Order: sequence, then C-alpha cells, then structure tokens
Amino acid sequence: MGWDGIVSSTSKRLHVITWGCQMNVYDSGRMADVLAPLGYAPTASPEDADMVILNTCHIRERAEEKVFSELGRLRVIKQAREAAGLRTVLAVAGCVAQAEGQEILTRAPYVDIVLGPQTYHRLPEMVARAARAGGSVIETDFPAEDKFDHLPETAAAQGVTAFLTVQEGCDKFCSFCVVPYTRGAENSRAAAPVLAEARRLVAAGARELTLLGQNVNAWHGGGDWDFAALIRALADVPGLKRLRYTTSHPRDMGDTLIAAHRDVPALMPFLHLPVQSGADRVLAAMNRKHTADDYLRLVERLRAARPDIALSSDFIVGHPGETDADFEATLALVRRVGFAQAFSFKYSPRPGTPAAGAPGQVPEAVKDARLQELLALLRAQQEAFNLRTEGLTLPVLFTGPGRKPGQLSGRTPYLQPVHIDAPLALIGTETDVRIARAHPNSLQGTLIREKMLA
Ligand code: SAH
Ligand code: SF4
Ligand code: F3S
Repeated sequence: MGWDGIVSSTSKRLHVITWGCQMNVYDSGRMADVLAPLGYAPTASPEDADMVILNTCHIRERAEEKVFSELGRLRVIKQAREAAGLRTVLAVAGCVAQAEGQEILTRAPYVDIVLGPQTYHRLPEMVARAARAGGSVIETDFPAEDKFDHLPETAAAQGVTAFLTVQEGCDKFCSFCVVPYTRGAENSRAAAPVLAEARRLVAAGARELTLLGQNVNAWHGGGDWDFAALIRALADVPGLKRLRYTTSHPRDMGDTLIAAHRDVPALMPFLHLPVQSGADRVLAAMNRKHTADDYLRLVERLRAARPDIALSSDFIVGHPGETDADFEATLALVRRVGFAQAFSFKYSPRPGTPAAGAPGQVPEAVKDARLQELLALLRAQQEAFNLRTEGLTLPVLFTGPGRKPGQLSGRTPYLQPVHIDAPLALIGTETDVRIARAHPNSLQGTLIREKMLA
C-alpha cells in the first residue's frame, strides 16, 4: 500500500457517526486509525470536519431512509462550509453502503465516497482519488486481499474495556438476516495478530477485552486453534482481567468452548447466545439449524460448567408463518431459561432475504402485541436477576467516572452496570463491591474498604 509513507503535518478533522452493532463501533475506530497518517484527528462536530464518515447499519426497517435523512442534514453542513471556502469529504460506510452503494450515489450525488466493510484499509487511497477526480468513489466489492492484513496497528487507546474483532462475516444465511450479504463470507483473523493487538490494547490500559464477530465462536485459526484455544491464549496476556465475546451462534457452541467457561477464570460468566424463537417450526423456517430443545440442552451444559453463568439472547417476533402457538413456545422457552438480559425485535423484512418474500407475513398489530408481551416477561426476568445480586459482594471493574460527581461506573462479571461513590484512582481496577440496591437496569453499591486497603 502506497499510503503508509504519507505523513501529513497539516491537521485535518474527522467526524465519524456510528450506527449499528459493536462491529461498526470497532470499524469506526479502525477507519480513524487508517486516516490518522493522513493528518486526520477526531472532532466531535461535523461543522468543523474536513471529512465526515457515516458508518451505517442495515439490520432494521427503514435503514435506508434513516441514512438519506442524515445525509440531507450533512449536505447542508457541507454546502455551508463550501460557501466559506472549505471542503468536506463525505463518506458513507458500513452495511447500507455495501447493500445500496449505487443507490446512494444516485440519490445523494454530493456523497464523495461509498465503501463497504471489507474495504476500509483502502480508505486513504479513496480519499486521494476523490480529491483528484472531484467525482465520487465507490468500493463495495469484496476484495481478494484480506482487510485484516492491511489495516495498521490499532492507534487509539479504547479505555478500560476494549473491543477486538477476531472474526467477520457469516455463512449461516438465517432467513431474515442481511449480514451474510453485507459482511460477506465467514473469515477469521489469524491468532498471532489477534494476540498482538490484545497485548497492545492491554498496554494502553485495557483490562477487559470483548472479542467481536458476527459469529465469533465460529473463529478458527487452523490446526488445534479453535475459539476456545484463542480464549485460553488471550487469558494469559499479562494485565488482562476479563474476557467476553459476542455474538455467538448456538451451533458453534462446542465442547471445548463450554469447557473454557468452566476453566478460564478471566472468561466472564455472561453469554449472549441468540435463540430468536422457541418454536421448532419457526426455527426451521429461519434456517437456524437448531431446535428449542437443542438450545435448552446447551444452556444446561453451560450451567453445569459454570453454574452462575448469566444468559442473554436475541428474539424476533412475527417471523413469517409464526402462529400464536409458536409465540407461546417462545414465551415457554424464556420461562425455562430465565434470562439476565435480552433484545427483542419485531420481524422486519429486509429486501433480498428469503423471509422477505415468504408467505404468512404477520400483521403489524400482532407483532406489536407479541413484542409487548415478550418484553414484559424479559423485563421481569432482568429485574429478578438484578434483585438476586442484592446483598452479594461482587468484583466490579471500574470503567470510568459516573454520572454524578464523586461517582464511578463499572460492571459486574454479569455485565450489570454499577454506580458507586468511589475515588477516581480505582478506574481500571477490579474491586469488591457490596451490592446495596438493584434497579431494573443497574445496581448501586458500596466499596468493601478492607479489601481496598489490603
Ligand atoms: N450474528 C448475530 C447477530 C445478527 S444481527 C446472530 O446470529 O445472532 C442482531 C439481531 O438482530 C439478530 O440476532 C436478530 O435478532 C435481529 N435481526 C436481524 N435481522 C432482523 C430482521 N430482519 N428483523 C428483525 N430482527 C432482525
Ligand atoms: Fe445473521 Fe444468522 Fe448470520 Fe447471525 S447467524 S449474522 S442472524 S445470518
Ligand atoms: Fe448492522 Fe451490519 Fe452490524 S447490518 S448490525 S452494522 S453487521
């Protein structure tokens, strides 16, 4: 790549808007990293920015409309800057860019660059091309070279908790999902660069790493290197206290990974394991390739390995063909498992996915009613889970200052947010806290002083 020699002393400003999943949050950071050698430093306001990147998500309904309305707002800023003699490079990245690249250039010709998630490493080249040509640049092919091999080392420190992408893409083709089309085929990053990045993040202050991937537990590094082996190797990085990973698929939850939950103390007892539905008919229509019973047995095995493991999930209500009885089966599964947290969505047709054209689309009002009922049940479970931690002493990793002066924010091993009066010096430490009160979404507590002084 020709650009890594270009070091510009002129300071330019970059504003990144990030929507969607944690993968996009991570990607936005990496785009900032690749642009740093060109002299771009972050700014919080688009009005000051020489370059604005809108990093988009395609998972929800009306994703495109949301993008075009945001672009309309950015166009006004771009024009105002132009009137003042200032240039703004406007780039659209992420999953909507991947899926609707041409449409974006047609409907919003003032956009300079459209780039898919697999081409971020080429961004400096695209900026140069856009500047030279004065026209728009579109890069949404899945390139032959591996993006991971061409990205610079992470530059910006992420803080006490950091994300690390280890796997991208998906070959599972669930009936409802755009990810296999926007992120491409499953691709694992090699173990050595993952371990190197983990060491750099820890050296920069990270104490907790969350490994990211659309199917993170499908990660494989060749030979004996499966995801559990990667977790064991990462747990040995000195200074690292906590490991998490998201999102995992039930089908890739193998014996070695379950054993890692038993054996690796750094691996936190919290798992986001999407099930989507509790009805086998719907699971089959969704192409999930697991049954409700498979999921329940998996939960049993996880709990046998790590009795206190807290579970989280994703649910879709109103997938085409879902009947009242199917929805009841979902509620029954939720009651059987008992979730600490969950995300529920109304099915929304995504163009180009099999479910979008399937018969038996469920009326909006039915989806609404089912969603409310499911949310109420899950909310009650989350409150009950939080209440069970009242009176316990839990290690809390302090991540930063809290909302009120004198307060710190942190997380329990079960990912519950904790707010507590504590000195700033404790940021980055894992300290025992007695949980005094549980709220629906967070916990309050007091420091265990004896431990602190020990
Ligand atoms: N790879 C992850 C997450 C994919 S997207 C996984 O397999 O679980 C995150 C969540 O968005 C999904 O788990 C699903 O619950 C939801 N989702 C995806 N497409 C959707 C659609 N068309 N309608 C409603 N919810 C959807
Ligand atoms: Fe989408 Fe299914 Fe792949 Fe998850 S496993 S990213 S829901 S296709
Ligand atoms: Fe959205 Fe793409 Fe992530 S569609 S959820 S930004 S993988």
